[in-house]
Amino acid sequence: MQHIFIKGTDDSKPTLLLLHGTGGNEHDLVALAKEIDPTASLLGVRGNVVENGMPRFFRRLAEGVFDLADLELRTKELVDFIDEAATQYRFDRKNVVAIGYSNGANIAGSLLFHNGPIVKGAILHHPMVPRREIEVPALPQLPVWIGAGKNDHMCPPKESKDLEVLLTVAGAEVEVYWSDYGHQLTHDELNAAKAWYSNHF
Ligand code: MLT
Repeated sequence: MQHIFIKGTDDSKPTLLLLHGTGGNEHDLVALAKEIDPTASLLGVRGNVVENGMPRFFRRLAEGVFDLADLELRTKELVDFIDEAATQYRFDRKNVVAIGYSNGANIAGSLLFHNGPIVKGAILHHPMVPRREIEVPALPQLPVWIGAGKNDHMCPPKESKDLEVLLTVAGAEVEVYWSDYGHQLTHDELNAAKAWYSNHF
């Protein structure tokens, strides 16, 4: 997968896996990740699906309606990529924290829904429930942070609330931050994610 790896200055820190929103690329979340942890290594990845010229991590049939077969396939593709990147760049595969926005948050959620605790934690900016008809594997004490907007029409509040419940039932320790805004990322939301990250990693 097309990607960028930026080696951090502190090897004990997690490697931050950066997953962009629709139309983004592997560079999109680099500045945000540097705010969250200036010393961590960063692995920014570009989704392999292209919708009207816009990169995504998996196909959708309509807005908010996901192609589940493709979601499964692309989730596996991402897992294989992370494994290969860990060998190539010599980072600790067991010490990876995912940071995703929108479509990137959805594939990050899908990593957990299909594989269990395959990352050490996750920061999900404006996620949806990736799929509803499967049982989420056990995620004992997995730290997950969700940033959601009360007026987000792309990712309605119910999606964030349902995701919180599904992850919590699976054993994850979920914290949700609510902004009064829509689908956009705000500085307050970033600061909240940063504070949560500092407490956990
Ligand atoms: C998705 O398709 O993953 C969600 O609708 C969010 C997005 O448009 O990126």
